[in-house]
Amino acid sequence: MCGIVGFIGSRRALPVLVEGLRRQEYRGYDSAGVALVSDGGMWVRKTTGRVAELARAVADGPGGVVGIAHTRWATHGGVTVANAHPHLDSLERIAVVHNGIVENERALRRALQAEGVVFRSETDTEVLPHLIRKFYSGNPTDAVLRALEHIRGTYGIVVAFADHPEMLIVARNGSPLVCGIGDGETVIASDPQAVVEHTRRVVYLQDREMAIVRAGEVEVRGFDGGVLDLNVQLIDADYDVANREGFPHFMLKEIHEQPRSIRRCLLGRIQREDGLAKLGGLSMKPRDLVAIQRVITVGCGTSFHAGMAGAMAIEALARVPAHCEIASEYRYRHPIIERDALFLAVSQSGETADTLGAVQEIQLKGGQVMGVVNVVGSTIARTTGRGVYIHSGPEVAVASTKAFTSQVTALLVFTLMLARTRDLSLPRGQAVAAALDSVPEHVTHYLQNPGPIDQVVEVVKNARYVLFMGRGYSYPVALEGALKLKEIAYLPCEAYASGEMKHGPIAMIEEGTPVIAIVPMDDQREKTLSNLKEVEARGARIIAIHTEGDEEIAALADIAIAIPAVADFVSPLVTVLPLQLIAYHTGIALGRDIDKPRNLAKSVTVE
Ligand code: G6P
Repeated sequence: MCGIVGFIGSRRALPVLVEGLRRQEYRGYDSAGVALVSDGGMWVRKTTGRVAELARAVADGPGGVVGIAHTRWATHGGVTVANAHPHLDSLERIAVVHNGIVENERALRRALQAEGVVFRSETDTEVLPHLIRKFYSGNPTDAVLRALEHIRGTYGIVVAFADHPEMLIVARNGSPLVCGIGDGETVIASDPQAVVEHTRRVVYLQDREMAIVRAGEVEVRGFDGGVLDLNVQLIDADYDVANREGFPHFMLKEIHEQPRSIRRCLLGRIQREDGLAKLGGLSMKPRDLVAIQRVITVGCGTSFHAGMAGAMAIEALARVPAHCEIASEYRYRHPIIERDALFLAVSQSGETADTLGAVQEIQLKGGQVMGVVNVVGSTIARTTGRGVYIHSGPEVAVASTKAFTSQVTALLVFTLMLARTRDLSLPRGQAVAAALDSVPEHVTHYLQNPGPIDQVVEVVKNARYVLFMGRGYSYPVALEGALKLKEIAYLPCEAYASGEMKHGPIAMIEEGTPVIAIVPMDDQREKTLSNLKEVEARGARIIAIHTEGDEEIAALADIAIAIPAVADFVSPLVTVLPLQLIAYHTGIALGRDIDKPRNLAKSVTVE
């Protein structure tokens, strides 16, 4: 969601800025723009649509060496060129790009209008350049700091001054920014992926910090103006993800990466012989683990579904009450935070505003919350301080795939760790450890022969409605399968717990309606089988995801997709695979923009 790039150096800034935006396209956006300090003034171009449009519009742009650029995901005001960033002050000599939301925008806009300022856009961001202009009397740092004193809300901003081509000013409160220090040049971005091709030496800005950025130099200050020590870190070359490794889309690459990403998540954490698990980042001894009376996972979207599957395993294996909460609901419903509960905030990006809001609410009420996060050093990882990194590697496609399986894996590792401090015996612990350890092999095995996905695509691609259903561990998988099909193919579909199906969705079933049932060989199989007979009697076309060798289900289904036989608690890690592929190939068949589906953002940093 919204991407920022800034550059200051001695080579042409435009190509660096455009490529930086391109590398952040996966975050989701609907317009883009760039401002260059050039010929003593500001040269600005903005376009709606893709970065490719902007690239065409700036192809003959000037050779300025300082500039800022942005991809916008509309919040305040529609998708128009006027609303795209950068935004300028009235003299068109100060340019600002902004991620986040200015909450007191209306009051500030009215006050500035009363002083004669004419606004050119409907955005909240535009108050920033006007406020900075108001406080500017030659010193960019002071002007930005004074302007920010009036801003309520979240922001990551980069400000360029036509009067000061030797510097850019950067500030952060809630929206991530990283400054990459190269040889005689500095690249600023909201995501390290836009920096790594230029340098691996970076400074992450923390909340309520600003930086004065010059070519090859960064000076970080607190909002009181005091200079802070520079914490230069080396980022992982893994961040260089421009490479799709021969796959036509990142989504497909990431689906096929799952044997490796799950293996990375397990690496060094499972002791098979002792049936134990170890998660160093939790810093919890058995004494701390036995004190936990309840586990609550919190997340949004795919991470919510992973949290549901994890909570089920925790309750079933560790016999600790556990459930999952939607972060956006939890943070606002005045929840009771029990002292002896452990909260796990599940988030791929570690930046999701609602999940972060829930974390802060839990912390405010004295609760214990840890992260289950992918992006190292992200806001949720830092705010929780302790947790589990899922190590799935950068996920670029907007629709999450490998992060889901690694989140579930990490939660299962935690389950084993918790369960062994309770009732789970050594032999059962060994069985759980072995089941986890063999997941990458099963995933590889399935992906080598994924079954008749193309037949499923033919059935669902023109459907008016698709119903997904599953019970127990397969219910969150059904939810995830429906989410993927909505995100990538834009098809009307929903997921129901199989038992609930007769309480409503059955009314939707008519001759030919596709019903995708997740029905592996587990305790709930018989029950789902009965539900399948109910929809079959009403003319549904049944697509069944079943365990290899389960001939009864295969015979009942119109299209049968076999997955390897695995223990019930790891089944989401394999049953989700065909659903990811169905969404992907249906999206392809319908000509969708797979890695950048409409209206969606990878990292949702606003409520
Ligand atoms: C967005 C993404 C989803 C993701 C959700 C939560 O909606 O499009 O793919 O599941 O945010 O993101 P998180 O980074 O917290 O896992």
